[in-house]
Amino acid sequence: MIIVVGGIKGGSGKTTVATNLTVMRSLVKDVLLIDADDQESASDFTILRNEQQPTGAGYTSIRLSGAAVRTETKRLVNKYEEIVIDTGGRDTASQRAALTIASVLLVPFVPRSFDVWTLEKVSELVGEMRTVNPKLKAYAFINRADPAGRDNEEAAEIIRETAELEFIDCPLGSRKAFSNAAAKGLGVVEHKPTDPKAVNEMNALYQYLFSTKEISD
Ligand SMILES: Nc1ncnc2c1ncn2[C@@H]1O[C@H](COP(=O)(O)OP(=O)(O)OP(=O)(O)O)[C@@H](O)[C@H]1O
Ligand SMILES: [Mg+2]
Repeated sequence: MIIVVGGIKGGSGKTTVATNLTVMRSLVKDVLLIDADDQESASDFTILRNEQQPTGAGYTSIRLSGAAVRTETKRLVNKYEEIVIDTGGRDTASQRAALTIASVLLVPFVPRSFDVWTLEKVSELVGEMRTVNPKLKAYAFINRADPAGRDNEEAAEIIRETAELEFIDCPLGSRKAFSNAAAKGLGVVEHKPTDPKAVNEMNALYQYLFSTKEISD
């Protein structure tokens, strides 16, 4: 499975989700994390993780950009059991290249107007990419969910109505544990002291992605 964590909004949580999924998946599979964002945050995370963990990061990480995201990934696909691609916060050539070969696009959405307003454009992008990659599955979920109020549900409603995206009801709350863990090169499930809510939410998203038959097939 090639999972692209994408979308066209900066700061929605793509790198947080890509690195957490990679860390968790690498416990059971040989995972390649591809950093396709010129900001290199996923690579920085991996460098830090390699320094901090006595046994190293636990997965392989490379940086790719532009058309190489397609060509190099195609060459590597049989060498790894799972590939996670982190993309930048715009509609880039790298993200498009990734989507030509991806099995799954996963898009985090912060329940705020500016983020939700990009939904239609993401939907158009997915529609376009499906003309070259008809098997592409595309899912969206809410990241940085509010502890209360109507914004989460309103954003969820708009995602459900968006043509090319399927809504996954596995929100991640806005929790300091995510950034605290990342700052130490850790997944939120590894971070001490444990934030049980963050761990449960991340586990639910992981389970959904890797245990739902229609996604992993
Ligand atoms: N669920 C969350 N709770 C709290 N903070 C979060 C959460 N998700 C992400 N963050 C924080 O929000 C910021 C942006 O997250 P992240 O870097 O993962 O977004 P991104 O989509 O990769 O950004 P970019 O578009 O710049 O690549 C980071 O400081 C991260 O720690
Ligand atoms: Mg990022």
